[in-house]
Amino acid sequence: MIFTVGGIKGGTGKTTISTNLAIWLSRQGADVLLVDADEQESASDFTAWRDETYQGQLGYTLVQLTGGAVRRQIEQLRPKYDHIVIDTGGRDTASQRAALFVSDVYLLPFAPRSYEIWTLSKVLALLGEVQPGRATPLQIYSFLNKADTRGVDNTEATEVLRENVELNYVDFPVVTRKAFATAASKGLSVFEAAPHDDKAIAELESLFRHVTHLAK
Ligand SMILES: Nc1ncnc2c1ncn2[C@@H]1O[C@H](COP(=O)(O)OP(=O)(O)OP(=O)(O)O)[C@@H](O)[C@H]1O
Ligand SMILES: [Mg+2]
Repeated sequence: MIFTVGGIKGGTGKTTISTNLAIWLSRQGADVLLVDADEQESASDFTAWRDETYQGQLGYTLVQLTGGAVRRQIEQLRPKYDHIVIDTGGRDTASQRAALFVSDVYLLPFAPRSYEIWTLSKVLALLGEVQPGRATPLQIYSFLNKADTRGVDNTEATEVLRENVELNYVDFPVVTRKAFATAASKGLSVFEAAPHDDKAIAELESLFRHVTHLAK
């Protein structure tokens, strides 16, 4: 399965979700390729810190790809891996568009602030370009990341996402939790970092189980 974690907005948690997903899949015994398709190279930085922490035992393979190479290279790499996870930048739509042509699943984290939710018209425009060029429709799952524990922002964002049925909102919010940043600074997923944040783990696991179960 090829997953692209994307969206047209910085800081929504694309790298956090993609690195944690790659590690979650590899911990289940899968052979995983993590593709850094963002020129900011955050997934590569994460992997460098991981390399220091784990002395080479990354659990996945990392490659950096941009632009049209994302599509060409991934088509070649697809048979070699059980799963490929592509981390995209919030701005470079050329790489993201290329990623979406070869992906099975598009994961869209949204932070529940209204100005971020408005960027979804740009996501819809991107999907309008990509979907007609595909043999089978891209499977899309949108969800809240950096959600509040409770509050009106979550509710409003959820309503907007639900209204856009093509974005297939899944009700598995990931709340803002310090554990994500703390783990990432060592190149770790929240599944590995000590002390365990049980809530962060439970939320992410529910989300990942749900989307990998639904994805065909
Ligand atoms: N659920 C969360 N709880 C707390 N902090 C989070 C959460 N998700 C992401 N963050 C933090 O928010 C910041 C941005 O996250 P991240 O780098 O994953 O976003 P991004 O969408 O990849 O950003 P960019 O668009 O710059 O690539 C990071 O400091 C990260 O640790
Ligand atoms: Mg990023």
